[in-house]
Amino acid sequence: MTDLSIDLGFLKLKNPVIAASGTFGYGLEFSPFINLDKLGGIVVKGLYYSPCQGNPPPRLAETASGLINAIGLQGIGVERFSEEILPRLKDYNTAIIVNVCGEYEEEYVSVVDFLNKKEGISAYELNISCPNTKKGGLCPALSPENTYTVVSLVKKISLRPVITKLSPNVTDIVEIALSAQEAGSDAISLANTFLAMAVDVETRRPKLANIFGGLSGPAIKPIILRMVYQVASCVKIPVIGLGGIMSGSDALEYLIAGAKAVEVGTANLVDPEATIRIIDELEEYCVKNGIKKIEEIVGTLITQ
Ligand SMILES: Cc1cc2nc3c(=O)[nH]c(=O)nc-3n(C[C@H](O)[C@H](O)[C@H](O)COP(=O)(O)O)c2cc1C
Repeated sequence: MTDLSIDLGFLKLKNPVIAASGTFGYGLEFSPFINLDKLGGIVVKGLYYSPCQGNPPPRLAETASGLINAIGLQGIGVERFSEEILPRLKDYNTAIIVNVCGEYEEEYVSVVDFLNKKEGISAYELNISCPNTKKGGLCPALSPENTYTVVSLVKKISLRPVITKLSPNVTDIVEIALSAQEAGSDAISLANTFLAMAVDVETRRPKLANIFGGLSGPAIKPIILRMVYQVASCVKIPVIGLGGIMSGSDALEYLIAGAKAVEVGTANLVDPEATIRIIDELEEYCVKNGIKKIEEIVGTLITQ
C-alpha cells in the first residue's frame, strides 16, 4: 500500500491531485461521472462578488495539443454559490478550494470577507492571473508590486490559507513568486493560461470573439514545468503545479520538479474521469518503484 497523502503544511490532502478551476464546474457537475471523495481537492470555478456573464461566444478554440479559452470568468457570484453549491459540497470528503476573482483589488477582499463566514471551504486560490477577462481585466500577477498588494490585502482579513495562482505571461516568474511569498501567501499555484489567439483563414476573423484567450493543455506543459522547477527551488512555501497534465506520468514530472501537489484542468474536458485515472497511475508508479509515501519523490530531480 502506498501513502498518497500530501501535507501542504496548512492543509492535508488525501492525494496530490486537485481538479483545476474552470474545468470542473463547481465540482457537483462531475459527481455523475466520478467519485468526488477520491480527489485530493477541487478548485471551483472562479467567483467574483457578483454574478458575471463572461465573454460573448465563440469562447473556445482548439489548437495543436491545446485549447484557447476566453470564457471571461463567467460565474454565479458568492451569494448563489454559498446558498446553492456550498451546502451540497459538504457531502463530499475532499478539500474544497474557492478560486477568488476581482475586477479591482478590493473585490478580492470583499469575496474572501463574504466567504470567511461560510463553512466548508479549505482554502482560497487567488486568481490574480486570468488573461481573458471582459474588460481587459485586472491581472495583478503580471507585476511583483501588484501581486504583493492583492495578496497582502487578502491575507490581512483571510481566515483561511491563501494559495496565489500565478501567470506564466511574465519574464521573471521567480520575482513574482517571491513577491507573493513576501506578502504572506501560504502557497503558490503555477500556472494560469498563456495569452494566445487563433485565426480562421476562411473568414480571416479571430476564432474567438474576444480575439485573445488563454492557451492550456499539453502544449504548455514543458514551459510551466520549467517555471515550477525554478520557483520551487527559490521559495519556502509549497508550489502546486498545473499545465497540460493528462496522465500520471505528467503529474510525476511536476512532483519530481518540486511541486507538492498538482491540478488537472483541460484533461477534464477530454475525459471526465481523468483525475481518477491520474491518481490510479500515480499509485501504480509508486508500487512499481517501491515508493511507500508519494511525498518522498517531491523535488527529487537529479541534475548532475
Ligand atoms: C475553460 C477554462 C476555464 C478556466 N477558468 C478558470 C478560472 O475560472 N479560474 C482560474 O484560475 N483558472 C481558470 N482556468 C485555467 C485553469 O485552471 C488552468 O490554470 C489552465 O488551464 C492550465 O492547466 P491545464 O493545462 O491542465 O488546463 C480555465 C481554463 C479553461 C480551459
